[in-house]
Amino acid sequence: MKRLAILASGSGSNAEKIMEYFQNSAKAQIALVASNKADAFVLERAKKFEVPTFTFSKKELEEGFLLEKLQAEKIDWVILAGFLLKIPAELIRAFPDRMVNIHPALLPKYGGKGMYGAHVHEAVRAAGDKETGITIHLVNENYDEGKIIFQAATFVETSDTPDDIASKVHALEHRYFPEVIESLL
Ligand code: GRF
Repeated sequence: MKRLAILASGSGSNAEKIMEYFQNSAKAQIALVASNKADAFVLERAKKFEVPTFTFSKKELEEGFLLEKLQAEKIDWVILAGFLLKIPAELIRAFPDRMVNIHPALLPKYGGKGMYGAHVHEAVRAAGDKETGITIHLVNENYDEGKIIFQAATFVETSDTPDDIASKVHALEHRYFPEVIESLL
């Protein structure tokens, strides 16, 4: 049984889909939901699934507090689902090829610093792209440059607002992220 930790900074709709998916799994369990935001809605979602939660500050993250917790909890895989802080190199090195992120665009497009959340969908809109999508990738020490595991695309209509694009992308994330995680384990 693999022990997974989810790191999230916000709403956690992806985290919820993952908790739901692995609820009765014989392969993996969500052993921890960790957040840098004490009021992140993802923590409420975790309670609903009786998954233990853990919060930490940016400074504590940088000082290795989260890494200690993940090791104490014997975590095998770290899942980033809308986690907005930079992961310290030491933490990445502690989970070689065992840390996965979801990015709400078709990398290498719309990746890198500052490209998160609504910024991504606004950039796709501004560029007039005909498609966008999701990228699930391993995490290395550079933003959004780890090995790509999976991508899925969706059409962008000329009438789509950034919010419309976000909804389409979220639908893809919810549909695929849990099973792609399972395939990696
Ligand atoms: C997702 O779009 C994910 O790709 C990005 O952050 C968003 C998190 O959404 N990295 P939610 O908190 O899971 O609803």
